[in-house]
Amino acid sequence: MLTATTLKDLPLGFRLTEDQQLIKETVRELAQAEFAPRAAEVDRNHRFPRENWDLLAQSDLCGLPFPEEYGGAGMDHVSYSTVVEELGSACATTSVLYSAHVSLCATPIYIFGTEEQKKRFLPPMCQGKKLGAFALSEPDSGSDSAAAKCMAIRKGDQFILNGSKNWITNGVEADYYLVIAQTDQALKHKGLVALIVEKGSPGFTFGKLEDKLGIKGSSTCQINFEDTPVPVANMLGGESDGFKVSMVTLDGGRIGIASQAVGIAQGAWDHAFKYSKERVAFNKTINQFQAIQFMFAEMQTEIDAARLLTYNACVAQDRGDKFTKLAAQAKLFASEVAMRSTVKCVQIFGGYGFVTDYPVERYMRDAKITEIYEGTSEIQRLVIAQNVLKGL
Ligand code: CAA
Repeated sequence: MLTATTLKDLPLGFRLTEDQQLIKETVRELAQAEFAPRAAEVDRNHRFPRENWDLLAQSDLCGLPFPEEYGGAGMDHVSYSTVVEELGSACATTSVLYSAHVSLCATPIYIFGTEEQKKRFLPPMCQGKKLGAFALSEPDSGSDSAAAKCMAIRKGDQFILNGSKNWITNGVEADYYLVIAQTDQALKHKGLVALIVEKGSPGFTFGKLEDKLGIKGSSTCQINFEDTPVPVANMLGGESDGFKVSMVTLDGGRIGIASQAVGIAQGAWDHAFKYSKERVAFNKTINQFQAIQFMFAEMQTEIDAARLLTYNACVAQDRGDKFTKLAAQAKLFASEVAMRSTVKCVQIFGGYGFVTDYPVERYMRDAKITEIYEGTSEIQRLVIAQNVLKGL
């Protein structure tokens, strides 16, 4: 059993409430008992862990931050962050399939949806009967979201979609796809529209599954539309609101990725800490060497700081404050901490860190994407700088 250092040793100044602590402990137990033991197999076989999703659904976690009237659990975003962290600590694939569903699809429906849309889409998503995905990037546009070329031309009470979207988390497995498409190239970001597209719509097909460095079970693929009709009733906000929907969605999504990164870093730390107490070199366990102790000291300091930045962004979100900068700071720092820490953990394992008999090489591979998706570290610096210059 791994040591649950994160549960008791939160730094002074921030204490989880009893409810937040309970949800963290409950999800930790579930994740360590069910998801951690099959994480290596999911990674090796590039297999979407549907049974993990079903267990999350049975545990009423799929709609955690949404009001009960839509089938959610009515919990706050600190609780949500602890869930994503604990999933990330056990199995990064499971944390991202969950956070893409909650942060990138259900949340924008909750924020921008009409009452009719919320009643229609959220209950099955909160019950885990429907899985969500978000489709913003394209083969030729990632960081520059406004350059999207996938077209949505309105014809009466429908939009007709043509084009492709790339890097879709939950790829072939999702049921609802929040697609950001262009109504008029000349309008750039003001021409973007946000549409909920259902799996099985005519002309909606999947490209090949991507063969990735990490989070290998998360089903990432291109999606393609050829004259795909989408009812205007599936539009979130107005016809020119797609960019705003994307940016607000990514603000929340970045807290999810920060939480995932904290979980990956802490999970690797826990494995390395346990190993350091068992591995003997020069007649001593390696945790008795200062070189190793300093690595743990540096890592734990950075992980605690990343966690606090993440909670800070969650608290601002729950208060209804603007949290764009805080989410970008949390994601930037936590993802870079995850990368630095997992590299150190591999080093602590020595040769055993480089082979798949031990899990830390997987954590190191899984950490890398947290510096890339939902806005690269360079985009986070840009967002932080823009907000700082505005005095926010
Ligand atoms: N909230 C609300 N509105 C926002 C906003 C925010 N966070 N950020 C910008 N806006 C508004 C601006 O106020 C501006 O509004 P007006 O037109 O009314 O003035 C408008 O949006 C345009 O803003 P910018 O001029 O700043 O836009 P930009 O084109 O320069 O782009 C950017 C800004 C920060 C670079 C943005 O494009 C961005 O975040 N890019 C990264 C995209 C990204 O993260 N992609 C990842 C895709 S998801 C994924 O990874 C897949 C997955 O499945 C996990």
